[in-house]
Amino acid sequence: MHWQTKALLQKGISLLPSTLSYQLYYRLQRSIGNLRRPTPLKRLGAAKQMVDLLRSHGRDVVGAHIFEVGTGHMVDVPIALWLCGAASTTTIDLNPYLSPELVVHHVRYLREHRAKIVALFGEDGQSALFSERFRQLTEPDLGFTAIAELIGLRYLAPADATHVATAANMFDYHISFTVLEHIPADTIGAILQEGKRILKDTGLFVHIIDLSDHFSHGDKRISSVNFLRFDPQAWDWWAGNRYMYQNRLRAAQYRHIFAAAGLNIVTWNAKVDSRSLHVLQHGFPLAHPFIENTHQENATVTVQVVAAP
Ligand SMILES: C[S@@+](CC[C@H](N)C(=O)[O-])C[C@H]1O[C@@H](n2cnc3c(N)ncnc32)[C@H](O)[C@@H]1O
Repeated sequence: MHWQTKALLQKGISLLPSTLSYQLYYRLQRSIGNLRRPTPLKRLGAAKQMVDLLRSHGRDVVGAHIFEVGTGHMVDVPIALWLCGAASTTTIDLNPYLSPELVVHHVRYLREHRAKIVALFGEDGQSALFSERFRQLTEPDLGFTAIAELIGLRYLAPADATHVATAANMFDYHISFTVLEHIPADTIGAILQEGKRILKDTGLFVHIIDLSDHFSHGDKRISSVNFLRFDPQAWDWWAGNRYMYQNRLRAAQYRHIFAAAGLNIVTWNAKVDSRSLHVLQHGFPLAHPFIENTHQENATVTVQVVAAP
């Protein structure tokens, strides 16, 4: 679908009363959108990256209590972390988007694609713990409630990650996958401050951020930096709604937010998109806030960050 058509649809639906708006948008996503043929592979892979990032710091998820910001529709990340040994995941979302139907669908996918999933997890997939947990999870006929109980899932929604109704020093890891880019800079700072309160002293933050124009995921005519040609007002007109808000912060700004929250960044992996770099080097018209950045900075599309309180 052309990105502007999608943007107009999202903008129109976002103007409806909340419950009706969510239901209609979900139905559209399931029939013609990115939830039409969902698989858990992308998010399982992201969770595996988190496990590997932690391991590179001598840390493990076995027995860990994890706090996830921004659940979305599925719990593939909590499922993957549990398969790798986590004790529990508390996952919070401002909006109650979680779909039990999709959770059950994805567990069925796991059952039907065992070899592929085991391969995706590399050495973790070979462990006895993983095999036993995989067996338990893929027992036939597990419903959403049984799955949630098995993987130690606690779902908080609607709830705000800037104020979590839980005691201090509870969690080992504070994580998110493709969430921070949808949150204004000040709120990210407040989420990290609250994260410091609820994390144990030995805890770590592990966040994977997607800095690309999300409209480019479904419309291959545009590059990952397409949204950088709009000034803030024009961009707000196209995407300033609950379904497509993107802050367009670049990597250096995230670095600043993490540092300003008093966090010590211990890993910073930034990936540049070659197509975006190419269009930037060939006269792509940038809007004012982005003109001063280097091409590398504007073309950075993924950041993995590990930080300590
Ligand atoms: C892109 S979506 C879901 C991403 C999800 N991790 C996934 O992989 O599908 C981002 C989510 O963050 C949630 N969110 C935004 N601000 C939040 C906040 N302050 N506290 C908790 N969740 C928030 C939104 O409601 C939305 O569901």
